[in-house]
Amino acid sequence: MAQESRRRLCIDFGTSNTAAAYRVGLGEPVIVPLGQGGPAMPSAVFAGDGSVVVGHDAVLRRLQAPDAFEDTPKSRIDDGEIELGDRFWPVEDLIGAVLRHVHQIALRHSGLPAFDSIVMTHPDRWSERRKNVLRRAAGRAGIPAETLRIASESLAAAWYYVYRGYDVSVAERMCVFDFGAGTCDVALLVRDGVDGFTVTGSGGDNHLGGRDLDARMIRWVHDEAAELDPDLPGRLRAPAAAIALADRVRTAKEALSDTAQAVIELPGTRHTLLLTRREFESMIGPFVERAVELTRDAIARADAAGTGPGGPVIVYVTGGTSSIPMLQSALSAVGRVARIGDPKVVVAQGGLLRSTNVVQGVDTQKVGAEVSARRIAFPQLPAGSVIAGVTVRDGQVVRVGEPLATADSPAGRVTIDAPVAGTLHGLDLRPGVAVQPGAVFAAVGPAGLRPDQWPRLHRTPAGTSPVRGHSGPVPPAPHRVVPQPVPAQPVLAQPVPEQPEKVNGFGLAGLIVGILGFPLCLGTIVGLVLTVVGITRAGGRRDALTTTALVVNVLGAVAWVAFVIWAVVSG
Ligand SMILES: Nc1ncnc2c1ncn2[C@@H]1O[C@H](COP(=O)(O)OP(=O)(O)OP(=O)(O)O)[C@@H](O)[C@H]1O
Ligand SMILES: [Mg+2]
Repeated sequence: MAQESRRRLCIDFGTSNTAAAYRVGLGEPVIVPLGQGGPAMPSAVFAGDGSVVVGHDAVLRRLQAPDAFEDTPKSRIDDGEIELGDRFWPVEDLIGAVLRHVHQIALRHSGLPAFDSIVMTHPDRWSERRKNVLRRAAGRAGIPAETLRIASESLAAAWYYVYRGYDVSVAERMCVFDFGAGTCDVALLVRDGVDGFTVTGSGGDNHLGGRDLDARMIRWVHDEAAELDPDLPGRLRAPAAAIALADRVRTAKEALSDTAQAVIELPGTRHTLLLTRREFESMIGPFVERAVELTRDAIARADAAGTGPGGPVIVYVTGGTSSIPMLQSALSAVGRVARIGDPKVVVAQGGLLRSTNVVQGVDTQKVGAEVSARRIAFPQLPAGSVIAGVTVRDGQVVRVGEPLATADSPAGRVTIDAPVAGTLHGLDLRPGVAVQPGAVFAAVGPAGLRPDQWPRLHRTPAGTSPVRGHSGPVPPAPHRVVPQPVPAQPVLAQPVPEQPEKVNGFGLAGLIVGILGFPLCLGTIVGLVLTVVGITRAGGRRDALTTTALVVNVLGAVAWVAFVIWAVVSG
């Protein structure tokens, strides 16, 4: 099937949360809104009355029969069968119920009749046995075996990183650090060829995750509660109170990534506890140290095995728990920490960006990321920068970082470099042309990319590098490929928004003058003129601002005309 029309779904079945995204052809990955107000849903299952309920519904029903509830079926993958309610359930049936639900929601959300391939992601260190459970679970979910693909979570994250316009040079290493709810997975990757990655080492701990932090906090709550009232810890351990407390503790933990303190209400009591970020950090210190140690170990093992370059490390953090600022600063001792996109949905989106050379059911450690189709825009260069020479031609295949042109800027001569690899299309670069940061000058992607597809592609700024030996000052902070942050917000039903449009200065002036100057007839006229100039300069395009300015000034003019007519008629 032609790449442009392939419909793919990726499901990241996590310990506590499941996320999914789909993609049609070379379009932007679309996140499936599985959560209530968020992209992910709980991976939980509730098996009562002979049927399995999943996600939020399972969480809602857990109080009815706590022993029929399993909040993390992924953590039970080795158990074979799980006792829930009054019977034993094969673990693949429970996971299959979650996958079936996600698949159905994705079909409904996309409006597609089916997906041509469905990618399931898994931790790097999973044994073949566990991957087989995942495959069987997909079968239980009604996913045909021939459409199923599996990919490692770290590779999916690396593909996402590159797709968002960042890159890893051949001298660097990428350490994907995925700290979720149940596991801490570390994988070391190096660039392999133009588009690929090779996993050179992995490490981590299958029993270290956000849930351990929650457990540590709950211990703290019990200790504090005992000081308030010695009977309190016992009451907090009652099933309903324990469930409510776990939720409140988790919410407080997540809030502390953004705030300096959080309040925890003790369920069934009038007591509250205040937890400061400082106290929280002293509590989780040992977990953070352990996570850093696991990262160092994985890197040291790869170094000892001599499986890749020994260059600088980019620590790409994913997984919800990696949102904790203390963890990120501790990891910065290992390498440059990068956090791109919503860590909960990076893997689900990245799994869609894989190459077609991943063979069904084969878990390969060496695959290429699909050539990213993008529009390339001029980078941020000082005003007055002009193209000096063009070094490529339309239709040429370029590599990441390959110079496309040189530009003379007031800060010196620089090259304008390809941010992604692929074939150049519609190249519009000529010597003497002024560099307009953000303006698109080419599309890049597979050789067969059609002009009608170009406008739908994500826009990525080109990189720049200083030209050595050229007289003139060197730009203060040249960047190798694409260091400028590219917007990487999660996509809910809509393509990722383009960079924000510039404010229409004339339109804004027209609005202000029109409103403030309304008491004077001249103010309205000047406001109207400014607004029309603003719209004309924007090529006739009206945005919300210029439309408002136009309406205000037209209404002002109508009011003045009416007033003059009234004044004349009434003498
Ligand atoms: N802002 C935050 N600060 C701290 N922890 C957070 C934050 N947001 C989410 N978490 C924690 O991250 C964990 C969920 O992360 P994620 O969804 O990546 O895990 P998962 O994919 O379910 O687990 P795993 O990858 O281990 O299988 C939970 O423990 C959650 O409490
Ligand atoms: Mg995960």
